Amino acid sequence: MECMADTHEDRRWIATAFGGLDVFEEVPATVAPPGPGEVTIEVRAAGMNPADYKHVASGSNPADLPVRVGYEVSGVIRALGPDTEIASGGGAVGDEVLAFRVAGGYASALTVPAKDVFAKPASLGFPEAANLLLAGSTAAEMLHVTGVKEGDTVLLHGASGAVGVSVLQQAALLGATVIGTAGESSFDVVRRFGGHPVAYGDGLEARVREAAPGGIDVALDAVGTDEAVDVSLALVDDRQRIVTIAAPGRAKADGFLVIAGAMPASAAFRDGVRAHLIGLAGDGRLVVPMARTWPLDEAREALEFLQGQHPGGKLALIP
Ligand SMILES: NC(=O)c1ccc[n+]([C@@H]2O[C@H](COP(=O)([O-])OP(=O)(O)OC[C@H]3O[C@@H](n4cnc5c(N)ncnc54)[C@H](OP(=O)(O)O)[C@@H]3O)[C@@H](O)[C@H]2O)c1
Repeated sequence: MECMADTHEDRRWIATAFGGLDVFEEVPATVAPPGPGEVTIEVRAAGMNPADYKHVASGSNPADLPVRVGYEVSGVIRALGPDTEIASGGGAVGDEVLAFRVAGGYASALTVPAKDVFAKPASLGFPEAANLLLAGSTAAEMLHVTGVKEGDTVLLHGASGAVGVSVLQQAALLGATVIGTAGESSFDVVRRFGGHPVAYGDGLEARVREAAPGGIDVALDAVGTDEAVDVSLALVDDRQRIVTIAAPGRAKADGFLVIAGAMPASAAFRDGVRAHLIGLAGDGRLVVPMARTWPLDEAREALEFLQGQHPGGKLALIP
């Protein structure tokens, strides 16, 4: 095993029960040394996603407790298991990496399977790298399952959010046109990434019809409100070309697509697209807009901010 001397005082965030932010606790951590096929990462930034608190709020199996919080990180390799290479090949102590999907990213260090660790492009900052893959692979899968192609006109609900801006950029690379819903204060964000903004709220369907007189081919829902679902159903006849990531109940009731990281087909697709997304980000074709960073110790405050649902970009925790 290749490693730095272990003189670290590590810490991590766990959820000790299922519920709201009061069950989140920062605790001292002993980081397991990496076995064969494992890597220990010293975290430089932990990416933040709504799933971090939603899965703790909705969990029910006591065997899952305590929950280690956080699905993606960037950092440097602290130690490598014997005969171990990272997913992008090679790997040495001190190398800059990102990892997804991991359990327990809200930490100063963690040991993870090497198959989930990739070299970080030098052009990407640690906070951006830590926030690239959950939103990016979700966006890629939304476009994939609905078959978005050159010339399509796409309605995207939640275009200014983390998943939304990744969809905007990846759809533009495919040659599709995107009408994106957002709050008016986020219209510039939608335009910056190539979308045509429309305000969500009363009258949405009429505004979308006006913005897309030729009709909508595909609807992508990254919001989950009844308004987003109802407008999608009104504008797109083919329910195989409507997908949600946030309204699974409506998808089941109304017969359109739903995807989630915990579904085996989604997990397989998302694993497979990671290297491609890192390549796009590395050469500047996929940007991760940051709103702000917080010290790791202030994860609860950061989660509260994220729960407000208008973060204005990605958030990262810095150990
Ligand atoms: N199933 C999956 O695999 C999966 C994966 C990733 C995320 N998700 C889910 O997808 C959703 C989006 O995630 P994210 O990371 O992109 O979130 P985010 O960055 O926090 O973005 C939230 C977005 O929601 C918009 N919004 C807030 N209230 C709205 C309303 N009433 N109507 C329409 N839009 C509204 C905000 O727009 P303005 O700020 O412009 O108002 C903002 O752009 C979350 O529910 C998350 O849990 C699911």
